[in-house]
Amino acid sequence: MEVSKPGRNLNGKTILITGGAGFIGSNLIHYLLRQYPEIKIINLDKLTYAGNLENLEDVASDPRYEFIRGDICDQNLVQEIFPRINGVIHLAAETHVDRSILDAGQFVLTDVFGTFVLLDALRRSLHVEYFLHVSTDEVYGSRDEGYFREEDALNPSSPYAASKAGADRLAYAYYVTYGLPIIIIRPSNNYGPYQYPEKFIPLFITNALDNLPLPLYGRGTNIRDWLHVEDHCRAIDMVVKYGREGEVYNIGGNNEVPNITVAEMICDFLGKPKDLIRFVKDRPGHDRRYALDCQKIRSLGWQPQIPFEEGLRKTINWYIENEGWWRRIKEKSQAFRAFYEAYYKEREVIKEVK
Ligand code: NAD
Ligand code: DAU
Repeated sequence: MEVSKPGRNLNGKTILITGGAGFIGSNLIHYLLRQYPEIKIINLDKLTYAGNLENLEDVASDPRYEFIRGDICDQNLVQEIFPRINGVIHLAAETHVDRSILDAGQFVLTDVFGTFVLLDALRRSLHVEYFLHVSTDEVYGSRDEGYFREEDALNPSSPYAASKAGADRLAYAYYVTYGLPIIIIRPSNNYGPYQYPEKFIPLFITNALDNLPLPLYGRGTNIRDWLHVEDHCRAIDMVVKYGREGEVYNIGGNNEVPNITVAEMICDFLGKPKDLIRFVKDRPGHDRRYALDCQKIRSLGWQPQIPFEEGLRKTINWYIENEGWWRRIKEKSQAFRAFYEAYYKEREVIKEVK
């Protein structure tokens, strides 16, 4: 383990978490409040279609937690918040690759310009001790063999990934140019509770529960490295405490699985027939495989703890036990329905699985 000096302290400090009402953000807020009795968290979230205060109902009256509804692109608001904080964990973003293919504008605005607004506020706030920028493994692009290391070139494929790559390098530029305390992480595909049901795993779980088709892109051979969100929260905690300024840390689940296998596991766990799976027209520019070399974060003392089979079972159970949560989104949210109809209507079935 590389850790030698005492880590940064989170207890007794105020952290700004952007995008805290989303999937990873709400899991992280729960995790940090459990972990640090004297932490103070400010959650700045615009509440886009992906933000949901239901995720945080149980902590809403916790005196250590404060919610501010607002946009990270709002320079005045962001500058008002910075004097009150000691650190930043920046998660807010537009995050769905398929939506970025339909319309990239909001991705460039939030993911790039919004990150600039935060970084610029950091430049004026020399008391802020760290700024953890949450990037993604998608910034590297796809590779058929081997593993991406942190120093590899970025080669993003989708408008989402390109926007995230812009933000990632902008954060790094603020470290190089102004010497600001910036740390960057590049996590792989997360899964777990509170994930918005447009994403692969929750979409397939909730469709299967309703005996609806499971639209698998292409031949289902694309590979993702699945990381349970709880393991990701532990990694964020580790990097905030011990990560070095100006460094990038890959965070992978060490768990590469082809999409077809994930889809079949979901059917098996739920006792549903595999012929619910439909091979549909592929995502344009669909990255074949993401894979990370995670030696660097491992040397800080972190490794994933939740095996995929166990994590997937727990996640499926969460969606079974929290049916109201996802039904309110899938059945009542215009943002969900409009996107689902627009994107999936044109994806004709190529082949059914027998
Ligand atoms: P999510 O879509 O579930 O949540 C995003 C949150 O950001 C929402 O609460 C939304 O309301 C908020 N938001 C969006 N635009 C905003 C704005 N302009 N101002 C303030 N808030 C805004 O996303 P997630 O899956 O939780 O991802 C969080 C972060 O982690 C993102 O930066 C994403 O790129 C990154 N990431 C996600 C994964 C994954 O598998 N989910 C993997 C790697 C990296
Ligand atoms: O790798 C990290 C990234 O993971 C994050 O940066 C993104 O924010 C997050 O959305 C996720 O991107 P992906 O595109 O990998 O995730 P998604 O859940 O959309 O898709 C996972 C895989 O499943 C991918 O190969 C596409 C496939 N898929 C997805 C959907 C929604 C299908 O086959 N059918 C589907 O309906």
